[in-house]
Amino acid sequence: MKGIVLAGGTGSRLWPITLATSKQLLPVYDKPMIYYPLSVLMLAGIREVLIITTPQDAEPFARLLGDGSKWGMSITYKVQPAPNGIAQAFVIGAEFIGADDVALVLGDNIFHGPGLTKILRTARQDVDGCMLFGYAVSDPERYGVGEADEDGRLLSIEEKPTAPRSNRAITGLYFYSNDVVEISGSLQPSARGELEITDVNKVYLSQGRARLQDLGRGFAWLDTGTYESLNEASQYVQVIQHRQGGRIACLEEIALAQQWITPEQCEAAGLSLGSSDYGKYVVSVARAASAQR
Ligand code: G1P
Repeated sequence: MKGIVLAGGTGSRLWPITLATSKQLLPVYDKPMIYYPLSVLMLAGIREVLIITTPQDAEPFARLLGDGSKWGMSITYKVQPAPNGIAQAFVIGAEFIGADDVALVLGDNIFHGPGLTKILRTARQDVDGCMLFGYAVSDPERYGVGEADEDGRLLSIEEKPTAPRSNRAITGLYFYSNDVVEISGSLQPSARGELEITDVNKVYLSQGRARLQDLGRGFAWLDTGTYESLNEASQYVQVIQHRQGGRIACLEEIALAQQWITPEQCEAAGLSLGSSDYGKYVVSVARAASAQR
């Protein structure tokens, strides 16, 4: 399975912060925002990732993530010339996806919670059509909203409904069979001029091939779209990390756990980050793994 991180958009709700930089490069406490969705793909065991950016932001993303080899991954880049919708990621990424299944995660979505790795692995194995993840929110009208039956089959889905049928927001993490490329290629732009991911999901719904899994109350699905929610996301990461001593979305630690890099490579990656606390943490994780061998 391949993975795509979509990091396009104008970030206009965060202006002037995002006038000169990409939203997905902004810090969420101690690391760039894109580390969080990238970590989700890594936890799913996905090693080949395409990052889609705006044309003007492509260069700093490449400077930050490189070719992925520091995490034992392959990372490549494409641009989305204009914000023409989430589903366009599969048109832009068609060649990259090839004959594989694909996971898409939005570059500003942060997931944290118990058993996430297991949920991702299962979703990856079982995908036939689409696998969506629902999360109860107080303001469902801001999102895609879905309903599912007891077996997790999707019953309905609507984009930003004025009268939501449930409080289940559809999060920005999607697993698809390979035919998502064909389906996305045949979509017409919506009234707001975008290729809508909800329209892709409606095709799978009509084929009886759409599933919706609920992320329970113990999960955090954090928004980063406003000054307030961006600040709250940073505070959440700070509080959990300070209390537990571990780090959320430490890419070197995940790569090491996946055995994509050796403890020596992990230590070198940590040392290359100088005296930052993040770098020191990576070094400590690497040394603990070396000592256990
Ligand atoms: C998009 C999708 C929506 C989904 C949301 C998750 O909304 O269209 O279905 O619930 O991402 O972050 P947008 O960010 O384009 O408003």
